[in-house]
Amino acid sequence: MVDIPYSQIFDDIYFSRESGIDETRHVFLKNNALPESWAQKKQFTIAETGFGTGLNFLVAWAAFEETASPGAVLDYVSFELYPLTAEEIGAALGDWRGAFGDRLDRLVKHYPLRIPGWHRIDFGRVRLTLIFDDVNDAIPRLNIPRGVDAWFLDGFAPSKNPGMWTPVLFSNMARLSHTGTTLASFTAAGLVKNGLREAGFTIEKVRGYGRKRDMITGRFNGSQAQLEPVRPQRVAIIGGGLAGTACAQVLRYRGISHTIFEAAPALAGGASGNPGGIFNPRFTAHRNAQSDFYAGAYALAARTLRETSGVGFAPCGSLHLITDDDKRRRFESCLETWRWPEQHMKLLDAAEASQVAGISLPHSALYLPDSGQVSPHLLCTNWAAGSDVKLNAPFSPDNAGEYDAVIYACAAGASEFMPDLPLQSVRGQIIAAETSPATSALKTNLCYSGYIGAPHEGRHIIGSTFQKWIATTDLREEDNAEILARLNEAVPGMIPGPVAGARAALRCAAQDRFPVIGAVPGTKNSYVTTAHGSHGIVSSLAGAHLIADLMDGGVQSLGGDTIAALSPQRFLDRAQRRGAIIS
Ligand SMILES: Cc1cc2nc3c(=O)[nH]c(=O)nc-3n(C[C@H](O)[C@H](O)[C@H](O)COP(=O)(O)OP(=O)(O)OC[C@H]3O[C@@H](n4cnc5c(N)ncnc54)[C@H](O)[C@@H]3O)c2cc1C
Ligand SMILES: C[S@@+](CC[C@H](N)C(=O)[O-])C[C@H]1O[C@@H](n2cnc3c(N)ncnc32)[C@H](O)[C@@H]1O
Repeated sequence: MVDIPYSQIFDDIYFSRESGIDETRHVFLKNNALPESWAQKKQFTIAETGFGTGLNFLVAWAAFEETASPGAVLDYVSFELYPLTAEEIGAALGDWRGAFGDRLDRLVKHYPLRIPGWHRIDFGRVRLTLIFDDVNDAIPRLNIPRGVDAWFLDGFAPSKNPGMWTPVLFSNMARLSHTGTTLASFTAAGLVKNGLREAGFTIEKVRGYGRKRDMITGRFNGSQAQLEPVRPQRVAIIGGGLAGTACAQVLRYRGISHTIFEAAPALAGGASGNPGGIFNPRFTAHRNAQSDFYAGAYALAARTLRETSGVGFAPCGSLHLITDDDKRRRFESCLETWRWPEQHMKLLDAAEASQVAGISLPHSALYLPDSGQVSPHLLCTNWAAGSDVKLNAPFSPDNAGEYDAVIYACAAGASEFMPDLPLQSVRGQIIAAETSPATSALKTNLCYSGYIGAPHEGRHIIGSTFQKWIATTDLREEDNAEILARLNEAVPGMIPGPVAGARAALRCAAQDRFPVIGAVPGTKNSYVTTAHGSHGIVSSLAGAHLIADLMDGGVQSLGGDTIAALSPQRFLDRAQRRGAIIS
């Protein structure tokens, strides 16, 4: 017998005591005319308020796979302000495991880090976008060019949760609907009926589930026509580093044919060729469009890398040492405004940090236990496996003929195709050093003005230098010395064994130090993903999902303000504001 989950915050239960699964089938499927409504569609989009245990999602997922036409895709987007843990979800729905096949276990396994932000999880034909935020804050930022086909208006009763059922929610539902969009809700409260009618929905009261007398069903009256999906058939990806191979991986998953053009004789010949790197979000003192990108991208990388074998992944965590007051203030503000649970980001004093690190540290630290190390080089190989790759193949517009979309993932090489992008190269060198008695006990990565990775196969990756003024990748002895000196300054006495190798490459960064990802302005089917700076391990994969979303017109995996902040259009907008462009 299922123990019905109960919310202390709202003093309400998550689903019916009679049968949650039958309630979902009655309220949300039957009263949205499902599965009939998706029967003829290639793409169908459901949006839900209040993900809770994921019961509605699992019921819809199973029904879709059992009844939709072969190859059809379900885009499911849901908002949740107080995410349950994966364990709580598994326990709450355990009795219905049989009804879901392996889907409950897959949801639990791939459930994202519980950090505020936008999370994308692919389950084959079913794509979940889980937005951990207040629906009223997040829904104005949500874009779905193809629109929502069916709304599941869940959430606790309006009498217990009046803050959720607002005109902001209703008007944004109208914005995201098209002629024929349906809705269903367990509640028939006047506040909800009237709000939805004012926003443009026709509402009807119908029989509720079990002991519930009434519920509502509705249809959008507006005249917004639904956009027809126009997916590209063949995509050229320019560049075989992290940015390009991440795109290949996502397009392959979505069944979109593509070719990687790489100018060098091998994949990962540029910045992405390092044998090891660490992944972290880029910290900002305040939560904004930029931090939302890095938070979601970090959560995506942490989850995806955990599930990828053969890429040198080590989930060792990272300690960001607090070496001065400025850093302390920035991290404290970040902790307060990003609102990550302690389980995912925590301030530790020097003693606690030393315990986590396994060696004595003179500094307190910001600890990210989900962070780790991976080999960017192996990651590129893994992400490109199964894709068509052309090596020694510098792309030129002459090659473009047979492709109906192009993705420029070629770091600073993008300037050749978009000369106005303000990109710059920043040379960097890393070393691989043997462990020593002073370093071999290190259990986590340490980040300071450089970084040292926890030992991997008897070595540490230690980085890195930043030189905007050097354009070559020749190795420099003085860089090795600088890298070791920075380590010794951050943790005196931490001297590794002999340097076993070094590598230098050029990072690509934009003038405003934020990646450039999105549609190329003034073109129809050209996209760019570049300027990943020092965080390409996390930003490349999130960027690839965004580009695939932009191509297919479905739910976008990032908020509109974040998409605008990433878009190359931002530079034109700024120039226009400065009066530098006359239109
Ligand atoms: C020293 C150093 C240390 C780093 N450490 C970390 C770290 O610890 N963690 C982290 O997250 N990030 C780290 N980075 C950053 C990370 O490596 C980059 O952000 C990432 O590799 C960028 O990937 P990319 O695909 O955009 O660029 P690249 O890997 O440079 O790939 C671009 C590719 O495009 C190809 N190309 C260019 N023009 C053309 C053309 N016309 N036709 C065809 N192909 C073309 C190039 O040959 C190249 O292979 C580090 C970088 C450096 C240099
Ligand atoms: C009745 S439960 C949802 C049940 C859920 N659909 C399921 O399948 O288990 C309501 C959910 O709405 C969430 N919620 C309440 N107010 C919210 C808000 N303003 N924004 C986003 N989620 C909210 C609650 O935390 C809770 O998980």
